[in-house]
Amino acid sequence: MIVTLHSYKGGTGKTLLSVNLAMTFANLGKKVCLLDLDLRAPSLSSTFNNTTNCWINNYLNKSCKAENILSECTPQYIKDGHLFVGLANPSTEAIRDMSSKDRKWEMEALGRLLSLKEHLLTDMNFDYVVCDSSPGLQYSSINAIVIADVVLVVTSVDKSDVDGTQRMIRDLYDLYEKKTGIVVNKVPQTILSGRTHIKLDTHNLPIIDLIPCSCDVLQSGGEYLFAFEKKEHPITQSLSKIAMKIRQF
Ligand SMILES: Nc1ncnc2c1ncn2[C@@H]1O[C@H](COP(=O)(O)OP(=O)(O)O)[C@@H](O)[C@H]1O
Ligand SMILES: [Mg+2]
Repeated sequence: MIVTLHSYKGGTGKTLLSVNLAMTFANLGKKVCLLDLDLRAPSLSSTFNNTTNCWINNYLNKSCKAENILSECTPQYIKDGHLFVGLANPSTEAIRDMSSKDRKWEMEALGRLLSLKEHLLTDMNFDYVVCDSSPGLQYSSINAIVIADVVLVVTSVDKSDVDGTQRMIRDLYDLYEKKTGIVVNKVPQTILSGRTHIKLDTHNLPIIDLIPCSCDVLQSGGEYLFAFEKKEHPITQSLSKIAMKIRQF
């Protein structure tokens, strides 16, 4: 199953949640692949090492094969499962290259991503592929939605984010007919305790979970694996709940 995390705006927590969702599945004994499809602002290379000579960029530019883009990154404390990561090239040159692609290239990239999906699910027998995507409505984000079986739309409670998310799911998500859920992240205590409310029209899409805003994440210097390594942490607990719901989708 391919799970893509998408959002209207940047900074909503897609990368943090993608990493920890992939780890949660791996910890359940699954074979998991995490792909950095945010080619304009790659983030996963600051958490995982690239042990191959290839990046996802090379695969999309047809200069390497699908089987060469994955690095095994299973942490020692995961006993049965496996985590493989496909990294995007974080160099300035690569980001410029990816930002300059035209529609024709993006259409071909979609074909390459669909072949990659087939390779990962059928030839390599991955149970879950988690895709961290670019925010917004550009072609590369749409490609990450099109290849998905399940999409999680991540929003914060900021008004501009909520407004944009509502517009995006109303205008766009109907078109793709994907199984879609909303995750509200960085939710303040006042909302979690019911003292204040958010007004979010989800256009009949389910809200999968509300994840608390946690200063611990910021105190750790934005270390993405932080939450998972603390089993009792509210973010870890939320991710277990989200993983369970995805399995029932
Ligand atoms: N629930 C949360 N509480 C506090 N900080 C968070 C939370 N989720 C994400 N963050 C922080 O917000 C910032 C943006 O998160 P990130 O995952 O990089 O967003 P995106 O990938 O959507 O741009 C990071 O510094 C991250 O550590
Ligand atoms: Mg990100």
